[in-house]
Amino acid sequence: MRLAVIREQRDAEKRVAASPETIKKLTALGFTITVEAGAGAGASIADSAFEEAGATIAPDLKKTVADADVIFSVQGLEGADAGKAKKGALQLAILNPFVDKKRLSDYADAGLMAVAMEFVPRITRAQSMDVLSSQSNLAGYKAVLDAAAEYGRAFPMMMTAAGTIAPAKVMIMGVGVAGLQAIATAKRLGAIVSATDVRPSTKEQVESLGGTFVMVEDEETAAAETSGGYAKEMSDDYKAKQATLIAETIAKQDIAITTALIPGRAAPQLISEDMLKTMKPGSVIIDLAVEAGGNCALSKPGEIVEAHGVKIVGHKNVPSRLAADASQLYARNLMHYITPLVTDGALAIDFEDEIIAESLVTKDGAIVHPRLQGES
Ligand code: NAI
Repeated sequence: MRLAVIREQRDAEKRVAASPETIKKLTALGFTITVEAGAGAGASIADSAFEEAGATIAPDLKKTVADADVIFSVQGLEGADAGKAKKGALQLAILNPFVDKKRLSDYADAGLMAVAMEFVPRITRAQSMDVLSSQSNLAGYKAVLDAAAEYGRAFPMMMTAAGTIAPAKVMIMGVGVAGLQAIATAKRLGAIVSATDVRPSTKEQVESLGGTFVMVEDEETAAAETSGGYAKEMSDDYKAKQATLIAETIAKQDIAITTALIPGRAAPQLISEDMLKTMKPGSVIIDLAVEAGGNCALSKPGEIVEAHGVKIVGHKNVPSRLAADASQLYARNLMHYITPLVTDGALAIDFEDEIIAESLVTKDGAIVHPRLQGES
């Protein structure tokens, strides 16, 4: 079994899909591993560290993937490079499949078996493979640090001989994995934290972290959570009520961190331009949903926009801003995915298995995932 770890091809992607630790364990499992030169540079892992762990370094992408049965990547091969891989090779990566559709047909045409790691079901058996959790957790933490860096004031209350500084008021919108970590981080920095979501089950989680929970609760919120634990898109009536609540609350905040996502759809817009105008000068918004359309009307991917005295931060790919830790956890997620597929030193994939069936997007020259059928 040959496994390849590529150097990421997308701009500003500093993560890598393996670590010396996972290389060692995968080698023990029976893989012969090739890592593309420089693959770990952005995550502070030298080629020599991969070599010491048992991998061979290849000079370019073609030589890295040519014989591979399995390809590990963070964001996947570019469509044009899919043909460099062997027909039938299994690629594990985060693929953003609802948006990046052309690439899926390139993969299918090249005969690649592509797994979208974000589709791995959130069942107990697959928790250690959950890339959304491992990466969002770090993004939630980093969002608070990014806010603190842009904010011209301190987070904690400080009592000094020269007078007292009031603590920052931070509001977290969307209390999934990223939001919960943002609450915990902002609390640790001494802020006064409140949070909102459409799923009533998040109330207890927010309060257990010491935050104040605010939400519009009505008959619709009782059914706002899917069986998978995700939020549904809310009705226009609910959105109007929620906008009133946010408008009242946001004027009193110094910082808002927005993380609200709806799988397979554009992110809900929670902060309008009119709401921004009511915020105090010097306030900061960190929009973690910016790449899915944004939770704030004025946020732009990859930019810090200043409007009405407020900074709106739209960093792209926030996990990559903590590339060393994000890579280490992501590498383990992939190792946990591939390990059960190896029996007696050979790949034996059970395509009926729930985890495989729900995450495999291309196979035998076609896009096979039910949620992507009809895509091209
Ligand atoms: P996500 O990234 O899809 O969304 C982030 C948050 O935004 C969610 O809490 C969602 O309810 C909220 N949101 C969506 N629309 C909103 C709106 N209009 N206004 C306010 N908030 C809105 O969520 P994530 O982080 O992927 O978590 C989803 C669920 O999965 C949670 O229930 C979480 O507990 C669960 N989960 C389960 C795991 C497991 O069982 N292995 C692992 C990790 C998470």
